Amino acid sequence: MKALSKIVCGMDRSPIRFILDSAARFPDAIHLEIGQPDFPTPKHIIEAAVQAARHEYTGYTANSGMRELREAVVVKLARENDLHVQPKNVMVTIGAMQAVFSSLMVLLEHGDEILLPDPGYGNFYMASRLVYSKAVAYPTIAEESFVPDFEALERLVTDRTKVLLVNSPSNPTGAVYSEEVLRACLDFCRRHDLYLLSDETYDRLVFEGEHHSPAKWDDEGRVVSIFTASKTYSMTGWRVGYAIARPDIVDAMTKIQEPMVSCVNTVAQHATIAALLGPQDCVSDMLAHYRRRRDLVVELAREHGLTISYPHGAFYVLVDISEQPGAPTRPLVDGASMDFGCQLLEAEHVAVAPGIGFGSLCDRYVRISLCASEQALTEGLARLARYLHAAPTRPIVDGAASRQAVRRPGR
Ligand SMILES: Cc1ncc(COP(=O)(O)O)c(C=O)c1O
Repeated sequence: MKALSKIVCGMDRSPIRFILDSAARFPDAIHLEIGQPDFPTPKHIIEAAVQAARHEYTGYTANSGMRELREAVVVKLARENDLHVQPKNVMVTIGAMQAVFSSLMVLLEHGDEILLPDPGYGNFYMASRLVYSKAVAYPTIAEESFVPDFEALERLVTDRTKVLLVNSPSNPTGAVYSEEVLRACLDFCRRHDLYLLSDETYDRLVFEGEHHSPAKWDDEGRVVSIFTASKTYSMTGWRVGYAIARPDIVDAMTKIQEPMVSCVNTVAQHATIAALLGPQDCVSDMLAHYRRRRDLVVELAREHGLTISYPHGAFYVLVDISEQPGAPTRPLVDGASMDFGCQLLEAEHVAVAPGIGFGSLCDRYVRISLCASEQALTEGLARLARYLHAAPTRPIVDGAASRQAVRRPGR
């Protein structure tokens, strides 16, 4: 039979999903790998969905989303993001991920280049490949507070570069870009005639500093902004996000929505209206929990002698597995964080996200998520530290052996 798509078959599976599936073999595993809020969706949001279903709001909606939801998005953006748009600028999508995917489809031709952060969300890389564009990683390193290095960015631009993607607050670094940095990103895009794709999935999850949407300084329609209900309202499974862009971009997304998915789940759209327009104290309550957990992890890392990132937003912490005080620098081979993740799971039953899933600069880290109880974080970090401190005597072996040890379900 003829071969399946090369681009799809040539792609690795998400390392986070791989660890998550592997952890199913260990019912007692401590889960620190996934960015899934551990709070229930607030009751008033669930109630709105129940009411919608009872009233039989169960048919298709417009491709770009219900008018009422797009109007609710307009209200939310003015209230929270100082962004003043109209419903014609709003495209409702299946989570932020479909908003990213759809944006890439509309903005990029085969072979065009997109500048993506490293460390950065692994799905950006996978999605770019699926639309036949070339992902070009730009560094955001710990020594520079994980913000873009503009000299490096300048060197990476070619005549095929079309999009710069920024993600603040960042998954996985927790960096919150200042107004100055985001204005510099927009200036960079203006200078090189690029689109700025701004993933603002964590716009409401900021511990210090302030979230800025670069679209508020854009008077040309150069910025496409992406938001979601997933993290803010603990609605990951409802799958509702939205892209904000100039009308012709929204029109193009609307057109391709039909052959992809037609529209977003109607009941979930009703729930999202309640989320955006209803009481917002649930957001500050959850944020307070994440902040307490962040502070706890920082304290525990100090006690255990772990080198970690200090997130100002989102809900992730990077733990450096390459260098620990008093220990020799560990020889990292390509994919070391994947091996470390697999071995840690086998030995200590702790699931973490391997840094390699966020780019090659992130291979020296594993990511832990603050979407776990204080008890799970305390025990998980103690086990991780125990394992890491024992590890310098044990060389990190090349990928294959340890990855096979943790069987690959579904492959
Ligand atoms: C930066 C970033 N963008 C997009 C997404 C996808 O969000 P959603 O669940 O709304 O599709 C995530 C999820 O982890 C993320 O971290």
